[in-house]
Amino acid sequence: MTFPIEQFQKLQTPFYYYDTELLDATLREIHSQIEAHPNYHVHYAVKACTNATVLRHIAQSGLGADCVSGGEIRTCLEAGFPADQVVYAGVGKSDWEINLALEAGIFCFNVESIPELEVINQLAQQKGKVARVAFRINPNVGAHTHANITTGLSENKFGIDMADMERVIVMAQDMTNVEFIGLHFHIGSQLLVMDDYVALCHRINELQDRLEAQGITSVANVNVGGGLGIDYQEPDEHPIPNFKDYFAVFAQYLNLRDGQQLHFELGRAVVGQCGNLVTRVLYVKLAHKQFAIVDAGMTELIRPALYDAYHKVDNLTSHEPEQVYDVVGPICESSDVFVKDYTMPATRRGDLIALRSAGAYGEIMASCYNCRPLPKAYCTEDFK
Ligand code: LLP
Repeated sequence: MTFPIEQFQKLQTPFYYYDTELLDATLREIHSQIEAHPNYHVHYAVKACTNATVLRHIAQSGLGADCVSGGEIRTCLEAGFPADQVVYAGVGKSDWEINLALEAGIFCFNVESIPELEVINQLAQQKGKVARVAFRINPNVGAHTHANITTGLSENKFGIDMADMERVIVMAQDMTNVEFIGLHFHIGSQLLVMDDYVALCHRINELQDRLEAQGITSVANVNVGGGLGIDYQEPDEHPIPNFKDYFAVFAQYLNLRDGQQLHFELGRAVVGQCGNLVTRVLYVKLAHKQFAIVDAGMTELIRPALYDAYHKVDNLTSHEPEQVYDVVGPICESSDVFVKDYTMPATRRGDLIALRSAGAYGEIMASCYNCRPLPKAYCTEDFK
């Protein structure tokens, strides 16, 4: 990735920078990989990044949206996503959020419990509407990722137990104001081992066989969630995730029935690599270790503190021989560390640093802790 460093020099740091040319190339690759499958539908998981320009590029490319709150539904409709391509998941949907989704006429509610199904039916009845619902199933498939971001194990709070599925579907079919239209799964995030998705396909196949044996043949849609990971170690070598292998797993292992539509909810893989947090070095402090203290902290990018996540650190302005640093932020928390024992060109006050691969779950998870302002953001087109 090339950075407009001269332009950066004039800006107040820290800020997010989105390379929208890379974003567009990523979107083109997704579309080209699903081109041969008219029954594949990709919904962008809005939770990863709601930067207005980024959302606009994604909406214009023709992807749908995957939302987890009323706020996200509002935001994505404003950005131009059509309501009939919006899916809405979440274990705790409030009444106002369900009402908003009903008013908007979204494509589908991904329902996570029986009490939620009953409330959706009731609220839809009050409006004289019929809500399309899919059931989020907990497939009890482990995923090779950080414990805080696996979601498909029976110990996780998400979804309905696979064993209860027939009962819940029959229940929905007896209700007047919901229409059962599909099954929904999501096993975790930042998955790079394709075998995890193969295991998911096997589970879905088993479930579909079982449902058919019970006479349930009304599964029009299968939604396999998101989770495809990105290369945090080498963002310049792999700026675009391997969508080819990802979609190929489903084409090869998932037994879709005639006419069934397959839905994906990709977040990180769409926006992760195009975003960077740009920060300036405030001080270099030589103590027990050598610290590069920068003006961004866990308030702008919480992933290292929360998940031990690694983000590559590039000094954009120094080309001197390398030294070893702990790169830390200014927040009053010991966990406000981006990376420890990191080798990079000799660093001085005023240097510009890019924390790479920060497009997903970066800006959107920023906070105002320590009364800090939320970070600004710029895109490629702002510098043209
Ligand atoms: N669908 C559902 C139901 C989800 O829960 C998620 C993410 C996605 C799709 C999109 O997953 P993706 O394709 O982005 O992996 N804050 C964490 C990630 C949390 C993911 C939550 N659910 C992080 O910074 O790594």
